Amino acid sequence: MYNQADLKNLVDKAIINLSYNSEAVRLIDPIKYVLSIGGKRLRPVLSLLACNLFNDQIDEAVMPATGIEVFHNFTLVHDDIIDNAPVRRNFPTVHNKWNVNQAILSGDVMAFISNECFLQSPPRCMVKVFREYNKAAIEVCTGQQLDIDFEKAMIVSENEYLRMIELKTAVLIAAAVKIGAIIGGAEEKDTEIMYEFGRNIGLAFQIQDDLLDIYGDIKLFGKVTGGDIVENKKTFLSVKAFELSKGKQFKMLQDLFSDRERDPVKKVSSVMEIYGNLNIKMLTENLANEYIEKAFTMLEKVDAPRERKKELTLAASSLIGRVQ
Ligand code: IPE
Ligand code: IPE
Ligand code: MG
Ligand code: MG
Ligand code: MG
Repeated sequence: MYNQADLKNLVDKAIINLSYNSEAVRLIDPIKYVLSIGGKRLRPVLSLLACNLFNDQIDEAVMPATGIEVFHNFTLVHDDIIDNAPVRRNFPTVHNKWNVNQAILSGDVMAFISNECFLQSPPRCMVKVFREYNKAAIEVCTGQQLDIDFEKAMIVSENEYLRMIELKTAVLIAAAVKIGAIIGGAEEKDTEIMYEFGRNIGLAFQIQDDLLDIYGDIKLFGKVTGGDIVENKKTFLSVKAFELSKGKQFKMLQDLFSDRERDPVKKVSSVMEIYGNLNIKMLTENLANEYIEKAFTMLEKVDAPRERKKELTLAASSLIGRVQ
């Protein structure tokens, strides 16, 4: 039985051993850079733990899990352009260190390297695994589109927000877990339950990320805090604040979220004051906890040894109260 630390090491090694077939060093350098500056490796670790639930052998799941991590890093490179983010994992983002065109092109190549990793899935389930990955990839882009659209929409409902984060974040974690289970030889019904487990973890994970964007310790979080407010992002916090505020406070929120030109430090502190008055932090923590609980309930239904499920439960619990 493997633990999270063993699996992170395994994935880190697989990433170091990736080979790049290109005569243009400039195309590859940003890829090596973004894959070497850290990252929790959450998705591949969950994928491998899911495989290990059903099988002692996890070797066949290592390259697809690595593919998910490369794909995730590709989405981050492009996400940082979209979100105007200067720093990630305490390092300059790719478009900041190089330039936007470089980040677009090197990011594109990462998606194809990810495909290459998936082509090393076991032939017996290659098509199934690839379909699962490809479906999630299109959904992630759909979620990112909604995220962009919502910057301009003043009122976004909680359900619309939840659908957006389901697509941009949760489905990739769900697919990672399901793919691990498929390669591990789980029964169809269990692979579906594992997908739901991952989806609920993913929702909790993004809600927690929204929270850390404001209340996180900048050094540990590794990203510039307050960025979501500056960019008028609809996060759980802003959606809830719009829902709960009335009269003057509602008008103030509308003003704050309607422009980008305002002094960013003042804008963030004014919005935070409103969040404080409305108790938004606690409401956000409660919702993230609810989704983690839902994930645990799903896991109980899976036909697998208790001590192996425990490792997945540990990995999921560490998301709540995570600092980076
Ligand atoms: C960041 O994901 C993007 C989100 C979906 C919130 P992670 O927090 O998993 O990023 P790294 O890979 O550990 O840096
Ligand atoms: C990221 O959401 C989702 C994807 C990268 C697909 P965020 O924009 O909140 O992620 P961070 O905070 O930049 O990591
Ligand atoms: Mg984003
Ligand atoms: Mg972002
Ligand atoms: Mg974020």
